[in-house]
Amino acid sequence: MSNHDLAIVILAAGKGTRLKSSMAKVLHSAGGRTLIENVVRACAPVGAKQTIVVVGYQAEQVTQVVEPLGAEIVLQQPQHGTGHAMQAARRALGKAKHVVVLPGDAPLVRTETLKALIDGHRAGNAAATILTAVLADPSGYGRIVRKSETAVGAIVEESQLSEEQHELNEINSSIYCFTLEKLWPALGHVKPNNKHRELYLTDTIAVMTAAGETVLAEVAADSREVLGCNTRADLAEVDRIFRERKRAALMDGGVTIQLPETVVIDPEVTAGEDSVLGAGVQLLGKTRIGARCHVGTGSILHDTILGDDVIIQPHCVTTESRLDDRVQIGPFARLRPGNHLKADVRIGNFVELKKSTLGEGSKANHLSYLGDARVGSKSNIGAGTITCNYDGFHKFPTSIGNKVFIGSDSALVAPVRIGDGAYVAAGSTITENVPADALAIARGRQANKPGWASRKRRELAAAENPKKSKRPRKKAKSRRTSKKHR
Ligand code: UD1
Ligand code: MG
Repeated sequence: MSNHDLAIVILAAGKGTRLKSSMAKVLHSAGGRTLIENVVRACAPVGAKQTIVVVGYQAEQVTQVVEPLGAEIVLQQPQHGTGHAMQAARRALGKAKHVVVLPGDAPLVRTETLKALIDGHRAGNAAATILTAVLADPSGYGRIVRKSETAVGAIVEESQLSEEQHELNEINSSIYCFTLEKLWPALGHVKPNNKHRELYLTDTIAVMTAAGETVLAEVAADSREVLGCNTRADLAEVDRIFRERKRAALMDGGVTIQLPETVVIDPEVTAGEDSVLGAGVQLLGKTRIGARCHVGTGSILHDTILGDDVIIQPHCVTTESRLDDRVQIGPFARLRPGNHLKADVRIGNFVELKKSTLGEGSKANHLSYLGDARVGSKSNIGAGTITCNYDGFHKFPTSIGNKVFIGSDSALVAPVRIGDGAYVAAGSTITENVPADALAIARGRQANKPGWASRKRRELAAAENPKKSKRPRKKAKSRRTSKKHR
C-alpha cells in the first residue's frame, strides 16, 4: 500500500538520565550504529512522505547524525515529555493523515513490523494502533490495559500501576500509528498528572477510548524487537541481538564462524563464501572480505578490504588497508592506515606497516617497521628492518625496487631509494641511495683478535684472587672457590 499520506516522527529529544552519561541517549551505539541511526534506517523503506526527528538535548549532535539520512528536524526545547514532543512536531506534520511515532531508543524494530502496524491500522480504521509485546519481565515499561480481546482501553505507566495492574505483562513499545485528526484533540485533553510533571503521549489512549474511538494493538511476533535502551544493561542486550542478527546473515551467506557469540561484526561488513572467522574476531566499519579467507582468532579488521584466499593469522590489527588475493599476514601483525599489499605478499609476526605498498610476492616476515615505503615485487625485507621515515618534523618516503634483498637489522634512513636487484648487507644503516644490482654495506668492519677472550678471563680471575691464581694447576679449584664466594 502507498504511504504517501503518512509521516514518521521519531522522538529523540530526551537526555536519557538512566544511562548516567554526558552523551544523549540516542547517540549511544548498538550493533555498530547509533540508536537513532538504527531507527531512521528501519523507517526508510516504509516510504513515508516525510521523516521528522524531534531533537532537544544535544540537538546539534543528533541533527548531524540524522540530517544526512534525509530526516527533517524539529526542536523541542525544553523537553516536557513524549506528548509535548508530538506537539512540537505538529506544525511540521502539515497535511499528513497518519503518523507512525517511534522512540529514538528502541532500535531493533524491523521495517516489516512497521509495515504490518500501518496495514493493521488502516484496515481497522483505528484512531490509534499500538505495537505491543508480551514480556516475561515487563518492568520499566508502560502496560497495556485491554478493553476487549481486540481493543485497548489505556496505557498505564509503571509508576502509576495499581496493585493488580502489576500483573499485566503486555507492554507499550512506544511505537504507534495515529490518525492525526484523532490525535490532536486527544493530546489537547492530556494533563501533566505525574511526578515528572510531563505530558505523556501514552495518556492520549485513554482519552481516545473514552471518546468512543477505536484503539488497536498489534502484538510484535518477536518481542525482542521492541526492547528500549534506558540503561547500560539494556544497551548491552540490544547490541548482543544486533550482532547475532548480523552473524546469522553472514552464516546464511556461506561464512563459517567459530564460537559465534564471541565475534563482533558491524552492519556494513560483507564476507564471501567459505570464509572462516575464528573466535573473538572483530570485523568493523566498511570491512569487506573475499571468498575462502581465514581470519584468525582475536584479529580486529577495521575498514579493511581482503581479496580471495587471504589468510590473517591470529591477533592481527588492521585499519584502512587493502590486501589482495592470497596475501598472508601475522600472527601479531599491525597494519596502520593506508597500506596496499598486492597478491601473494607475506607479512609476519611483529611487523608494523603504515602507508606502505608492497608489490606482488614481496615479504617482510619478522619484526619490522615499514612506513611511507613503496616496495616492488618479489623483494625480501629481512628481520628487524626499519624505515626511519621521521626526523621529528617531517615524514619521508623510502623506495625499494623489485627483487631487492634487505639484510636483517638494517635501518633505511628516508628519503632513500634502493634500486632493483640490490642487496643491503645485514646491520647496515643506509643513508644514501643504492644503485640497482649493487651491494650496500654500511656498518663497522669486523676485527677478530685471536686468544683475546681467554687472556681476559685469566686477568679477571687474577684480580679476584691474587694468591691462588699464582698456581695455575689448581686453577680449577680456585675458580670453584671464588664462585662459592660470590
Ligand atoms: C516510554 C513510554 C512507555 C513505554 C516505553 C517503551 C511514555 C510516557 N512512556 O517510556 O509507555 O513502555 O517508552 O520503550 O511515553 N523524548 C522526547 N522528548 C521528551 C521526552 C522523551 O523526545 O520530552 C524521547 C526520548 O528521547 C526517547 C523517547 O522519547 O527517545 C522515549 O522516552 P523515554 O524517556 O525513553 O521513555 P520511557 O520511560 O522509556
Ligand atoms: Mg525509553
